Amino acid sequence: MARPDPKVAQMPKVRYFSGQDLPLEMHKVRIIQKLTLLPIEERLRAIEEAGYNTFLLQNKDVFLDMLTDSGVNAMSDRQQAAMLVADDAYAGSATFTRLHEKLREIFGMEYFLPAHQGRAAEHILAKTYVRPGLTVPMNYHFTTTKAHIVELGGEVLEFIVPEGLSVTAIDPFKGNFDVAALHQLVADRGAGSVAFVRMEAGTNLIGGQPFSLENLRHVRAACLKYGFTLVLDASLLADNLHFIKVREPAAAGMSIREITRAMADACDIVYFSARKLGFGRGGGICVRDEAAYKRMRGLVPMYEGFLTYGGMSVREMEAITVGLEETMDEDMINQGPQFIEHIVSELDGHGVPVVKPAGGLGAHVDAMRFIDHVPQNEYPAAALAGAIYIASGVRGMERGTMSEQRDPDGSEPLAHMELVRLAVPRRVFTLSQVNYAVDRVRWLHANRRLIGGLRWREEPEILRFFYGRLEPLGDWADQLVAKFRADFGDSL
Ligand code: F0G
Repeated sequence: MARPDPKVAQMPKVRYFSGQDLPLEMHKVRIIQKLTLLPIEERLRAIEEAGYNTFLLQNKDVFLDMLTDSGVNAMSDRQQAAMLVADDAYAGSATFTRLHEKLREIFGMEYFLPAHQGRAAEHILAKTYVRPGLTVPMNYHFTTTKAHIVELGGEVLEFIVPEGLSVTAIDPFKGNFDVAALHQLVADRGAGSVAFVRMEAGTNLIGGQPFSLENLRHVRAACLKYGFTLVLDASLLADNLHFIKVREPAAAGMSIREITRAMADACDIVYFSARKLGFGRGGGICVRDEAAYKRMRGLVPMYEGFLTYGGMSVREMEAITVGLEETMDEDMINQGPQFIEHIVSELDGHGVPVVKPAGGLGAHVDAMRFIDHVPQNEYPAAALAGAIYIASGVRGMERGTMSEQRDPDGSEPLAHMELVRLAVPRRVFTLSQVNYAVDRVRWLHANRRLIGGLRWREEPEILRFFYGRLEPLGDWADQLVAKFRADFGDSL
């Protein structure tokens, strides 16, 4: 296999005469949806009605929806075409066979259990492997993963490398797993205390940061030593593949398909949310070992649907099959990370605090530094998400203390980070839309002292960030609107 100079492999394919380094979309838009941008006074009214919770905004009031990439990535013409030839059958559909064969080809694992989305796969895994008192070491948790493990009496242990929890450490692989911590765990509690080990590609909650292939192989070696099952959460695999390709010199000469296979070969189980991986809606679990497959199999018809659809529609399964193949194409998966890199470098270049280096999934604005005058118990990330919506009509997502759960004694754990995630769903936005979002966040940063904190108006006990409502402390939101009008005149 030819090994090109990694420095060459990292160069963009197209250079601009202007010398600028801009992302360039390798696709064109063929179906469009009209957007509306409300005047700022109406945006203020909308966020008040939503209780300063961007989950509760109506989409009709949103200009750019950067809440998530989940289920809202754009589909290609080929995916849409494949949906038309879906084979509708309760059992034995050719559509399922096509999906299964594509997964087998890409991941090299024999068995596949379909599920209606990623968290359903997590439910099946947790029910099969987790018992009270057992631990699940992982690079970092995701909300739904943790909820299923904890529900079954298990304990989540986060063995992320220290740089992973620093928003400023410039390290190419901040999603790496601290293997020494796993050895220490075995020394302290014994190998019998581990249900399975989980690696999350493109670690969602700490800024979409990737792990390296080398790190995964070290985790693999430790798992082999102790006989642990290694599970890969491949929901954000596309971004992680891109970063291994461009940031890991040893992988620069490998194709995306070869990197994918090398990752899967290091694992026993690969599960995913197809709302992210494969640009569709669904999910499932790929399994290498027949005995493990049989242990989990019965839970699919019980909770999801028959073994050849698992809660997914045949149309979605066809789209995912094509989307998985597109994920093997660097031109198809680099658009998200390149746009995110562009947003991050534009914001960073103007002094706006962001998680660096740019990761996958979205750009992450650091609310802790952006509004350092707002204490964590006044929910700075939620306040900033609300302020961004007021200033721009852009809907981001709070990823901070509001997303945490209270402890049983009512005390409130403060999050490691207070981030506002501006997700970049794949192949959806244009560069000018992204530049508009950057412009408004910059304006907000220049006026950051106006932004204040929030307090609960209605605080649900479970998953409060989804549907709880807050209100501003003081009249900062009105002041922000007045300043916007003074600066921008009658602009939207
Ligand atoms: N694992 C990861 C890494 C995820 O990012 C998600 C979902 C899931 C599992 C669960 O998958 O939604 O299909 O049930 N992340 C979404 C997000 C919700 O907005 O980041 P699901």
